[in-house]
Amino acid sequence: MSSADAIKWNERYRSNAFQSPREFLIEQASHLPQHGVALDIAMGAGGNAGFLIDRGLRVIGVDVAEVGVRRARQRWPQIDAAVIDLERYRWPACAFDVILNFYYCQRDLWPQLRSMLKPGGVLIFETLTRDMLQTRPDYNPDYLLTPDELRCAFADWDVLVYREDWIDIGGHWPRAVASLVARRPSTTLRSAQDEPAA
Ligand SMILES: C[S@@+](CC[C@H](N)C(=O)[O-])C[C@H]1O[C@@H](n2cnc3c(N)ncnc32)[C@H](O)[C@@H]1O
Repeated sequence: MSSADAIKWNERYRSNAFQSPREFLIEQASHLPQHGVALDIAMGAGGNAGFLIDRGLRVIGVDVAEVGVRRARQRWPQIDAAVIDLERYRWPACAFDVILNFYYCQRDLWPQLRSMLKPGGVLIFETLTRDMLQTRPDYNPDYLLTPDELRCAFADWDVLVYREDWIDIGGHWPRAVASLVARRPSTTLRSAQDEPAA
């Protein structure tokens, strides 16, 4: 991540103290366990992480934007929050019962996502797709999903929900997104896509 990006996100969290949980997370909450450890990847100011804390999960939330991390700690003192650049970090295997990945697209992180979730754990993932270019041709296509890309990346897991659609977020312009809920199989026949344990 460039320092210009970090400045952009820090500015945003400075002027906007609170983030609500994403609709897709609220809608799919029945797939969450009642306890366990969750990781919120690129959590921003912690709206999704806070939703999990309020449901009784222990949450580790990480983001490169320190202002977002500080906001999350202020609002949910129970959170284990850290300023981390996900492009430079290695995670332990089988560490989490839940992983959230909302509106952050780093493809080379996906093999780690696959290994760091415990067998039986749940991944909830939503981010923008290339359809977004129809209304925002200025967006960098590298950070937008291609059709069916997310489902294919987890096709050997139990895919509980998958859809690609246009959604309205908080009255802003419509966003083209792919949304996934997938469970890592409890009995793991290791897949070629899984990384060796770190
Ligand atoms: C669109 S926001 C999404 C925030 C939150 N997940 C949500 O759903 O509202 C993208 C987040 O990714 C974070 N981010 C970007 N690059 C990152 C990196 N290399 N490591 C960690 N976080 C990063 C930004 O700071 C920002 O908070």
